[in-house]
Amino acid sequence: MTYLRSARRRPLVVAAVGAATLGLLAPAASAAPADVRYAPGAPGLGDPYFPDLGNGGYDVGHYHLKTAYDPDTDHLTGTTTIKATATQNLSRFNLDLYKLNVRSVRVNGREAAFDRTGRHELEITPRKGLRERSMFTVVVRYDGVPETLSGPIVFDLPYGFLHTRDGATIVSEPNAANTWFPSNDHPRDKALFTIETTVPRGLKVIGNGRLVEHRSVRGEDTFVWREDRPMATYLATGQIGRFDVSTATTGKGVPQLDAVDSDLASDPNVRATPGWTTRATDELAGYFGPYPFTTTGSIVEHNNVPPLNLENALETQTRPTYESPPIEKGVVHEISHQWFGNSVSVGRWKDVWLNEGYALWTEKFWAERHGGPSALESFKQIYADPPQMPEPRPRFWDVVIADPTRDQMFHRAIYFRGGMALEALRHKIGKERFLELTRTWLADNRYGNATTEDYEALAERISGQDLDAFFKTWLHTPGKPPTWW
Ligand code: ARG
Ligand code: ZN
Repeated sequence: MTYLRSARRRPLVVAAVGAATLGLLAPAASAAPADVRYAPGAPGLGDPYFPDLGNGGYDVGHYHLKTAYDPDTDHLTGTTTIKATATQNLSRFNLDLYKLNVRSVRVNGREAAFDRTGRHELEITPRKGLRERSMFTVVVRYDGVPETLSGPIVFDLPYGFLHTRDGATIVSEPNAANTWFPSNDHPRDKALFTIETTVPRGLKVIGNGRLVEHRSVRGEDTFVWREDRPMATYLATGQIGRFDVSTATTGKGVPQLDAVDSDLASDPNVRATPGWTTRATDELAGYFGPYPFTTTGSIVEHNNVPPLNLENALETQTRPTYESPPIEKGVVHEISHQWFGNSVSVGRWKDVWLNEGYALWTEKFWAERHGGPSALESFKQIYADPPQMPEPRPRFWDVVIADPTRDQMFHRAIYFRGGMALEALRHKIGKERFLELTRTWLADNRYGNATTEDYEALAERISGQDLDAFFKTWLHTPGKPPTWW
């Protein structure tokens, strides 16, 4: 989960080692190694939509992703170093890694046996079992051409590690982080990240958080980025290309870094993006509570490289990725996700309406605050004429927001009916209470995970109302709800 939490456990580890030493000295003690039972960690976290994403038995504190990428061959060479804490006595454990060649695995400095099973399981058997609560280090050396994913989940667009004309763009939500690095690939296991990428001279790498190092050696450049707040794997990035980079500080003092594909630098919307980002970062903090991260910014990438034509964006932590010149509400949407999705993350992927509904609602709220229609007016319009998706996707009102099925998790209804449900709730409990609920939600679950059930319970507590029927209609039942206003 978090590095901080792991660090706090360190004294316990020391205590356990101390006890083991005493055990050796005092034969009467029962902690003889033969008594310790070890078992394999679960190969998945049991997410209803992605049962094998993530793994059981350990908790990652830190990823160091060291890669070299050659855009001419699309070849990636990587060394991932994971610092983790065992949450059970482990005889073996899994990481998620899709295809790619694994060259070696080391656990606590010793070569470990490994096997490839299932769709994306890397099964690791260390020489010695790992004791519960002990910290351990895994180093995986691997290489290959990362496979792009596609299919119904993400708007039928390619996603994951996408090779562009001169580099790569990375949009991993929900299940593609494991196509470029071995990981415990589920938002329930957040960690701190160091992203160190080497590319041919002339290219740049833009990652999450702060640039902590840049070095040039023999025709190659290495960029080291560090994200110092817990981050879900799907939000990690290290985009490669020819970028113009600018830096600033927001009025509230958040360091900002914006990068734009040099070919797009003259586009008026691209030029406006840093300013929109500054304003959204500061203003949303006024509504929702402190901006949860230590940097902000944007990455605007080239999108028209056949066969990719991505009208797509992702809320990569601290630095959203825009696959084409964004519009203002798109920036507001992705910055809103820094609170909704990135700081407070889904407990299961079926909870994704909490990300997209809130981000969409924020767009309409932003319009309300900036001389546009009220959020109520905007949602009345959507209620009258909701956005449909092409067949064979379900019709807008047929999607069950709190359990849309895996392939409809980014259906427009998740965004628009999700946002509408929040506006209806705002109407029901009152505008002030709704913001209080929202701020409490964000404060209570900061850097963690939460579910629809958690949200419903908090809404009832904050409002003092019984909202079972309301949530049943809006989140758990298909069909068009009655007008709420
Ligand atoms: N969370 C994104 C957004 O609404 C949509 C999902 C994009 N996923 C992806 N792999 N591109 O901003
Ligand atoms: Zn979104």
